[in-house]
Amino acid sequence: MASAMLIVGTWVSSRIEQAVIESQGASAAVYLESFLSPLSQELAENDTLSQPAQRALIEVFGQTALGERIVSYKIWKPDGTVVYASDANIIGHSFEITPDLEKALSGQVSASFEALDELENRAEAALGIPLLEVYTPIRESWTGRIIAVAEFYERAETLENELARASRNSWLLVGLIFLASGGLLYGIVLAGGRLIASQRQQLQAQLKETKAISAQNVALRKRAVSASSRAIAQAERTLRRVGSDLHDGPAQYMALASLRLDSALPQGEHQNKDAEQVKNSLKQALLEIRTISRGLALPDLDELDIERLTKRAVQEFSNLSDLETRVNMACNPNETVLNYAQKLCIYRFLQETLANASRHARAEKADVNVRCESAAISVAVQDSGRGFDPTSALKLRSDGGQGLLGMIDRAESIGGAVDIQSQPDNGTTITLTLPLGEP
Ligand SMILES: Nc1ncnc2c1ncn2[C@@H]1O[C@H](COP(=O)(O)OP(=O)(O)OP(=O)(O)O)[C@@H](O)[C@H]1O
Ligand SMILES: [Mg+2]
Repeated sequence: MASAMLIVGTWVSSRIEQAVIESQGASAAVYLESFLSPLSQELAENDTLSQPAQRALIEVFGQTALGERIVSYKIWKPDGTVVYASDANIIGHSFEITPDLEKALSGQVSASFEALDELENRAEAALGIPLLEVYTPIRESWTGRIIAVAEFYERAETLENELARASRNSWLLVGLIFLASGGLLYGIVLAGGRLIASQRQQLQAQLKETKAISAQNVALRKRAVSASSRAIAQAERTLRRVGSDLHDGPAQYMALASLRLDSALPQGEHQNKDAEQVKNSLKQALLEIRTISRGLALPDLDELDIERLTKRAVQEFSNLSDLETRVNMACNPNETVLNYAQKLCIYRFLQETLANASRHARAEKADVNVRCESAAISVAVQDSGRGFDPTSALKLRSDGGQGLLGMIDRAESIGGAVDIQSQPDNGTTITLTLPLGEP
């Protein structure tokens, strides 16, 4: 604002100064031209002034009140020659045409104050008093043609005082306006600052509250994940026990019953037919119980680290399928600590994705890539088969197929995620990511 004030103040005061000088110059020019014009008409024809005209000029400037105000004058021809002047030494000399002279030759009055730096002004500058320098055109009476230019120097002590006053006033006004607007601006900024400070305080309070709620949410989520992990582990353990109980209990008894039935029943066609039916039913029941118990069976995951668990799942799958499966392990099994629910999730994930690759992809090979980082483990199963559209495959289906959905639910319930990248005819990569560390 201070710089702006300086620029505006300088500009305004210089404009005012210029305006005052010009109006003063113009009124002096009009006054003087009324004397000079009749005396200078002969310059339309001649290059010099006649003796009577010169005498008249001397009288006008020497013996009237005008002479007291005008300290010096010159009459120029348009070519830059001084035809007549109060300083007899320069009469008849030619000088370079100055911009002021040129302006007057083009028909305008030109006035300036204290700029006596030209060669022809040496005498005026030597006087050491403030002077107003005015150039005014002299026109031919009837045609209006500019036949000469009168240059004169008027004493300007009053003008100097007036200029100083005008400049002082304009600086005062500019200063006051800037002070007022500065004060106003300061008030606005102060009020704005207070508002911002109070809003910041409110925001900080809200932030604190939000942080507390967020911490609460994290704690709740941790509890939910760990409860869900425990529930899943519990359910899977129960299923596993049911599976082995079925296998070791009812299946063994049925096998025994079927064996004994042969020897216990008497031979005969009629009885043989009934016995055959009982035997077949027993065989069928035995087969189904074994299938159910195999489906429920799981290796003892507590015993397995990530490397052995992966190899085990792949091995068991290879026993049932021709799909060639390679395992790439980027994990240090000793550093990667997984809980039971996580191991179970990875095992079921491998079972499901490998089964899908074999059943749906029509691929010959699949890759299992396991990577461990400090905060997460990722298991990706990649095949180069025919691919599919994941959005439609993830809709609930009427035929009961829910392998992918179940897998996603299982992973999310213990804080993990499943990413499916697949395009028709362009292979499939399904990646399971689980957080490591606390559940
Ligand atoms: N690797 C794959 N390549 C090609 N298609 C796949 C692949 N994995 C899944 N799909 C497609 O996605 C569908 C859904 O798979 P999802 O595992 O959910 O069900 P499903 O395998 O048909 O049945 P379920 O797994 O319950 O026995 C499949 O029917 C199949 O069309
Ligand atoms: Mg499936």
